[in-house]
Amino acid sequence: MAELKLIAAACQNMGIGVNGTLPWKLKKEMAYFTTMTTKVVDPSKKNAVIMGRRTWECIPAKFSPLSNRVNIVITHNVDEVKSKVPEGVVVTAGLDDAVKYIESHRNIESAWVIGGASIYKAAMGHPKCSKIYLTEIQKAFVCDTFFPDIDKLRFQSIKEDGVPQEEQVEGDISYYFRVYQNKNADIV
Ligand SMILES: NC(=O)c1ccc[n+]([C@@H]2O[C@H](COP(=O)([O-])OP(=O)(O)OC[C@H]3O[C@@H](n4cnc5c(N)ncnc54)[C@H](OP(=O)(O)O)[C@@H]3O)[C@@H](O)[C@H]2O)c1
Repeated sequence: MAELKLIAAACQNMGIGVNGTLPWKLKKEMAYFTTMTTKVVDPSKKNAVIMGRRTWECIPAKFSPLSNRVNIVITHNVDEVKSKVPEGVVVTAGLDDAVKYIESHRNIESAWVIGGASIYKAAMGHPKCSKIYLTEIQKAFVCDTFFPDIDKLRFQSIKEDGVPQEEQVEGDISYYFRVYQNKNADIV
């Protein structure tokens, strides 16, 4: 089955969100997110983006659903959320159901977990979780949502082709694109 990859941007205090939105505005970082989650090797396929219901709701209307990707929303209230989302958006009761959906759809190339906190945590503990793509913002922001602790014995920093190593700067904010690989991932 497809591996699960996580992608997130976190600030110095590992914050990822505040008041249902992002604490920063970083256009190039957002473009990186779009490129990473959209690009496919096989042009006949698409990637899936898996997210919690609150992350789904914080996508600005003009970008929702995220284009050229299969959007999967996780909620306890599947029927209610299904009745509100546009056609084509998949709604599941948990990460395992999202994985089952992906496994049964061969037209999905990669699965990207895009937040929020509890979905990242569940995904990190999933045997198919292969990598974490973490943008490390070199500044602290007031946040109410945080990226879970990364077990650095299991997830080791690697260099990956196509992921810039050098410092990125937007306005007065600098950040690095980092990739952590799960050395125990159960992938074929
Ligand atoms: N910086 C980043 O990279 C990044 C990425 C993503 C999000 N964010 C930020 O993070 C915040 C949103 O994240 P969040 O952690 O508050 O919420 P979230 O994880 O996006 O959504 C939480 C919701 O997901 C559903 N859910 C979670 N676990 C579930 C489970 N095991 N089974 C069924 N449903 C489950 C529940 O929906 P129901 O209540 O409908 O049952 C829950 O209320 C926003 O501020 C957003 O901007 C930042």
